[in-house]
Amino acid sequence: MKTGRGKAVFGNQVFSAALKTQPNRNLWKKELDMIHIEHLTKRYGDTVAVNDVSLDIEKGEVLGLLGPNGAGKTTTLRVLTGYLPPTDGTIRVGENDIRSDTLSIKGKIGYLPESAPLYQNMLVYDYLMDVAAIRGITPDRRMARVRELASICALENVMHKAIHELSKGYRQRVGLAHAMMSDPEILVLDEPTSGLDPNQIIEIREIIKEVGKEKTVIFSTHILSEAEATCDRIVIIHKGKIVADGATEELKQQASGRYTLSIKLTGTTEAVCKDVFRAVTGVFEVKTGAPEEGQVSLQLSCDAATDVRPSVYRIIRDKDWGLLEFHRESRSLETVFRELTKEN
Ligand SMILES: Nc1ncnc2c1ncn2[C@@H]1O[C@H](COP(=O)(O)OP(=O)(O)OP(=O)(O)O)[C@@H](O)[C@H]1O
Ligand SMILES: [Mg+2]
Repeated sequence: MKTGRGKAVFGNQVFSAALKTQPNRNLWKKELDMIHIEHLTKRYGDTVAVNDVSLDIEKGEVLGLLGPNGAGKTTTLRVLTGYLPPTDGTIRVGENDIRSDTLSIKGKIGYLPESAPLYQNMLVYDYLMDVAAIRGITPDRRMARVRELASICALENVMHKAIHELSKGYRQRVGLAHAMMSDPEILVLDEPTSGLDPNQIIEIREIIKEVGKEKTVIFSTHILSEAEATCDRIVIIHKGKIVADGATEELKQQASGRYTLSIKLTGTTEAVCKDVFRAVTGVFEVKTGAPEEGQVSLQLSCDAATDVRPSVYRIIRDKDWGLLEFHRESRSLETVFRELTKEN
């Protein structure tokens, strides 16, 4: 499955006009490189963690990689950042290829791993000064850069504390400052808000948004609202495959592009009414609920462009079935995420 500009994938539907509706407000960020991921597969022994994923990431995009536990988010990010070799497929960042130019790609990417390995006994200031040295920042510029990052990541008040004394949120910010040290054009953040309290979540989100004005940011999360609040584009992965990809606003529209009609009937059987309703124009799918004595519960998944209620009601009336419930509900993005990523 190949996606990129002008194409969005939602479940098994491809929307070719998808991203055209959103003006490419990132074109001015010309100095940034595009990221091309083609047919990427990563296996650990028999486990296929990433399965034939293709993705083009635009310059300056803030992309949320969303998926449940074990979906393959961390593995995708590790391969993208050059920390794990791909089993198959290619990744290019601008002109650089991940297999032959690993060091150049690592130099372009700032990476905040899932659990950032920090030196617990060091003071925050000393730690960041060391990172600055390792990143090749000249001695005369180190202090200014560390101060700058302390301000961006709101670390000023903890600069002279030991890392082990910090709360998780502050440790995460130190990791973020580390990732941003050499002013990389791409930031890759693996669950940057995991385990933080709501205030800290909002603060980290604000930092991501701010940084995203000038950089390409790719971050993983399994929290849908987080991706909605922060990203230009959301890619949902499940079992190593992309199951949805599109501009955030668009996925929301597509999510509300379907609705569910819930009905409860008497005087018929599941098999009979399932067949009858499946034939109605505008009905994509008919699911049945938990059986109750003498009653049939159905959920009709319907196209938002078609109001199927008159046709469905006419059928019920003509067949002389008893109508106990009849209720239309819109699908939220959350429902869609759950449907796309549920186990079976
Ligand atoms: N080092 C490893 N060795 C073997 N299997 C691994 C390894 N790392 C990950 N896996 C497996 O690969 C799959 C994808 O894992 P990954 O860590 O990429 O998922 P994730 O989306 O980041 O999950 P989470 O939300 O829990 O962080 C899982 O089935 C996991 O068990
Ligand atoms: Mg992970």
